[in-house]
This record gives sequence, structure tokens and C-alpha cells, in this order.
Amino acid sequence: MTATPPPTTLSPASSTELPLYANEVGPESDMAARRPLYLIVATATKPPLGIGLNGTLPWPPIKADMDFFRKVTKDSRPSSDGSCLMRRQSKVMNAVIMGRKTWESIPPKFRPLAGRINVVVTRQQMEYATTTIARELEDREIETDADGRFPSIAVIRAKSQEGRPTPPPVIIAKGLEAALDALDGQSHSLLNGEATGADGNSEQLELGNIFVIGGAQIYTAALDLAKSQSRPVRILQTLVRRKDAGEIPCDTFFPNVLDKGTGSAADQDSLKQWLATSGNNESIALPQGKQDWAVDEKSGFEVRVIGIEI
Ligand SMILES: NC(=O)c1ccc[n+]([C@@H]2O[C@H](COP(=O)([O-])OP(=O)(O)OC[C@H]3O[C@@H](n4cnc5c(N)ncnc54)[C@H](OP(=O)(O)O)[C@@H]3O)[C@@H](O)[C@H]2O)c1
Repeated sequence: MTATPPPTTLSPASSTELPLYANEVGPESDMAARRPLYLIVATATKPPLGIGLNGTLPWPPIKADMDFFRKVTKDSRPSSDGSCLMRRQSKVMNAVIMGRKTWESIPPKFRPLAGRINVVVTRQQMEYATTTIARELEDREIETDADGRFPSIAVIRAKSQEGRPTPPPVIIAKGLEAALDALDGQSHSLLNGEATGADGNSEQLELGNIFVIGGAQIYTAALDLAKSQSRPVRILQTLVRRKDAGEIPCDTFFPNVLDKGTGSAADQDSLKQWLATSGNNESIALPQGKQDWAVDEKSGFEVRVIGIEI
């Protein structure tokens, strides 16, 4: 059965509005806490904001969007505005935060998502959730705090193997706040620890951008938490429509938050900055080029990415 969609679409408010955080640049010590939170989502245009059906995506694989998602979540890097101060000789890695149901919607052979710190948020008893997820992953060990208890964060770390790069860790978090605290503060040994690079040498793991990748419950929690923390939110929204203009059955929807006039459409320059890769003035291309929709002939769907900042 198809659920009733929310009444309005995620329409960008006037681009002349100032983003909320524009006047909130604090001292350097505050920068980590104000690290922008990226929400990356693909939403149907018909019904508006539809994101899921029966625990999976409501459309078949759309290559252009999948490629865009992979590139952005893996290769984008914080701009040099001070929001992330890089240490030398470190391996920078972005984090993707998802709800337990979204984790389970990823085909087992693709999880954890490669080249990214995967964070799974759950309300389940931590020991149960962590051991369940660890069991399905090969050659992993669970790292908890010193006395072996499971507080609000646990790390499932890959065992290092000589001469081979260490796969990224998977973090299990009791809630979104716990996840962000661990990432922001880089307090957990996860980010202080060393990983083995492709060249076999050990290197420090350093956090790049933080992406919330869904689903609906986690997007809602992220928007609420960001508001309470006055943390900037940048939404990368892929609009998805059928070539034949037909309806796309959906039972899960992105929260309809931007009709309150608090958001603004990101202009091309901002988008370019959000999609910047490290240091060489390059940024990841939008699937659609400058204006038009990108057509995926195989699936019969069309996509277009826009940016919204709150
Ligand atoms: N179109 C897109 O871009 C996109 C992206 C992602 C997902 N999706 C789709 O969205 C659907 C899944 O979304 P969903 O909303 O049903 O599930 P979800 O947000 O992925 O996961 C929900 C689960 O996360 C945990 N959780 C939620 N809020 C929490 C909180 N505040 N603190 C701690 N844990 C919390 C709970 O896990 P426990 O039950 O373990 O406690 C809850 O059952 C699927 O159809 C998926 O394919 C679409």
C-alpha cells in the first residue's frame, strides 16, 4: 500500500535569505562543533519527497545517482574554511551515518560502504546490535571502552593484515548525538588509532565530511539535532522522476521541513564548494550538468541534484 505523501514539496526558499549560520562563526575551538552536517537524499517528485518503499529504494538502480552518491560521500573534502583542520600525514575519510534499517537495506556485499567510516544508529541494546553486525562482517573485532562494557558507542574494527589496506571501521551508536559527539570530538580511539594504508605504511585516520544518508527517521533526528546545536545543514537532494511522468509508489518520506522559510537554495558557487575534492580546486560534477535532467535510459528515470542550506 502507498502511504499518503506530505502536503508540500521540499521547495527551496528564496535564495536571498541568509543561511542561519552565516553570523555564527565562533572561535576556532567551536569549529568542530559547527562542522556542517550534510544530508544526502534522493526524493521522488511524484509523490513529493518519497524516499523508500518496503524497506528499499522506490526505484531501480539509477547509475548517475549512485555514482554521484559514491563520489560525494567518498571523495568530497571540507573546504579550507577552518571547519576541519587536517593533520599532516593522515588519511582523511568521510563518515556516513545511517539508521539501522538503512544499513540493512544495503546489500550485504556492499556493506560497510567502502572507503567511508560507517556509523549505524540504533536504539537496540548496544551489545546485541554490535555483535549482530560484527558477526556478518569478516575479520573484525569489537572495541569497547576499557572495562569491556558497551556505553553509547562501539567500534567494529577490521583486523589489520600485513601489506593490505585496513578497511574502515564501523561505529555503532546509541543515538545520533552520541555518533556526532564521537566524530566531532574525535574522542574515540577509532580516530586516534592508526590504519594501514594501501602502501602498507601506517597512517592516522582523520575525519573529513559527515554525511547523514538516511532513512527518514535519521534525517528527522539529524534536522532536529542540528537545529538545537545551531549546526549548519547542507542538503544534497537528488530529485527523481519517471520519464513517463508517472507516480512512484513510496511508503517513506523525507521530512518536510523547509516550507517554514528557514532554508535557501544553494547557488552554483556554494554547491561547488560543498562538492570540492582535496586541494586542487576541483569539485565533483553534478549528474545533470548545468541545468537539465540527466536521463537514465536503462531505468527510465531522470535525476537532477539541487542543494539546500539551513
Ligand atoms: N531515497 C534515499 O535517498 C534513501 C536513503 C536512505 C534510506 N532510504 C529508504 O528509507 C527507508 C528506511 O528509512 P526508515 O526511516 O524506515 O529507517 P532508518 O531511519 O534507516 O532506520 C530506523 C532505525 O534507526 C534507529 N533509530 C531511529 N531513530 C533513532 C534515534 N533517534 N536514536 C537511535 N536510533 C534511532 C532505530 O533502529 P533500531 O530499530 O535498531 O532501534 C530505527 O528502527 C528504506 O526504504 C530505505 O531504502 C532512502
